[in-house]
Amino acid sequence: MKLGMSMRGIGYHVAAWRHPAVPADGTLRFEHYVRNAQAAERGKFDMIFFADGIGIREKDEPPGSLSRSGYEIVEMEPMTLLPALAALTKHIGLVTTASTTYNEPYHVARKFATLDLISGGRAGWNMVTSWSDAEAQNFNRAKHLDYDTRYERAAEFIEVVKGLWDSWEPDAFVYDKANSVFYDEAKMHLLNHRGKHFTVNGPLNVASMPQGRPILVQAGASEPGREIAAASADVVYAAQDSIPAAKAYYDDIKRRMAKYGRDRDDLKIMPGLRPFVAATRVEAQAKFDQLQELLDPLVGLARVYNELGDLTGYPIDGPVPELTVEPQVRSAYDRIMKRVRDNNWTIRQLCQNLAGAGGFCLIGTASDIADVMEQWVDAEACDGFNITPAILPGGCEDFVEFITPELQRRGRFRREYEGRTLRENLGLKPHVNRYTRDVRTLTGAAE
Ligand SMILES: Cc1cc2nc3c(=O)[nH]c(=O)nc-3n(C[C@H](O)[C@H](O)[C@H](O)COP(=O)(O)O)c2cc1C
Repeated sequence: MKLGMSMRGIGYHVAAWRHPAVPADGTLRFEHYVRNAQAAERGKFDMIFFADGIGIREKDEPPGSLSRSGYEIVEMEPMTLLPALAALTKHIGLVTTASTTYNEPYHVARKFATLDLISGGRAGWNMVTSWSDAEAQNFNRAKHLDYDTRYERAAEFIEVVKGLWDSWEPDAFVYDKANSVFYDEAKMHLLNHRGKHFTVNGPLNVASMPQGRPILVQAGASEPGREIAAASADVVYAAQDSIPAAKAYYDDIKRRMAKYGRDRDDLKIMPGLRPFVAATRVEAQAKFDQLQELLDPLVGLARVYNELGDLTGYPIDGPVPELTVEPQVRSAYDRIMKRVRDNNWTIRQLCQNLAGAGGFCLIGTASDIADVMEQWVDAEACDGFNITPAILPGGCEDFVEFITPELQRRGRFRREYEGRTLRENLGLKPHVNRYTRDVRTLTGAAE
């Protein structure tokens, strides 16, 4: 089983910052990130993973809700943070998000190549297109790029980055002092990319990455997102919450890989999973309930604002009213209202269920949770999980204390890191530089 620890901020529960064991200012304190990264490494996680946004995406709707939320409001920039964490960890992969919409490929290629060098082969890039107008407005635009354009740009962006990473064959640098040869000219390759969105000559002015190139991660389930995953990703961060849905997604992505000449095992699919674990079920449930109680009603209402509009005028413990105007997104509204009717939820319960318990959540003992994780992997619904702890550092440390040993006991998870690099630990093939591959093909050598 492959495992990632998604350790953005202070946890994924919207009330995390109000929890007594959570440092509310943790997202701005380096020692908070160090503690989480080192705990994840003690638990032999394949990687830590940073989701990221380049602006505050949450709106202040209903008014006043934003100032009550500590969720993703302020945080450290991950590409600056990860090299520092690299120096304080030894084995764990270091993966972060960078947007293809608000970066240039040369920047991304250069930074992640450098992170790979600093960390001794542990870098990974989560390729996203971003999605909010709030981000667009920090980068000279009023609106986010339309769907087709941003995915078209993303596909070209990724090809340019991959091309730049192959600028230098692995043995290009000979450093021959006696004969004054720094590098072998035949092993340096210009990209000369001329595309619709980018014109990039290359070569990249970084080389000799321990992983050949950093790991590529994709998150997003749309049609073009799936193609990008099948074509290029080493890891997919998925978001299903049931075995049938996850299995359908898994089969679809793995099936698409063949047309890009890739084997199914060349890509690891890891859905998000939020465990609440303790020595007993009662204690685990109490951990969950404690957080749900801390959910500020106004923050909860902000989480359903897009689908249901402003509900601040209604009693929080009363019934959820039907909208009298056409909802913004009819399908989302209908889906939520069906759950409201099926469960007879009040407004508070709706907020708690949508805002607090969103995503794939498991509450129980280590044995309960390991059982489900095993079922998913055995059903080929995933290759592992990206853990999205409700609170940090507690959610990460609980996993390492309770669930890691249980998975190890069952022979489902490593006791020691097998490899030197993230690529090796994920069980992925070595990267072969495209130019080296060309030569091998020409000479008839086996790849
Ligand atoms: C599990 C998951 C994690 C994501 N993480 C990020 C992120 O950290 N930053 C970001 O800008 N977008 C993130 N996204 C958004 C996607 O990259 C994409 O922009 C969004 O899902 C819309 O595209 P889609 O229709 O392909 O899903 C994530 C999406 C998923 C499903």
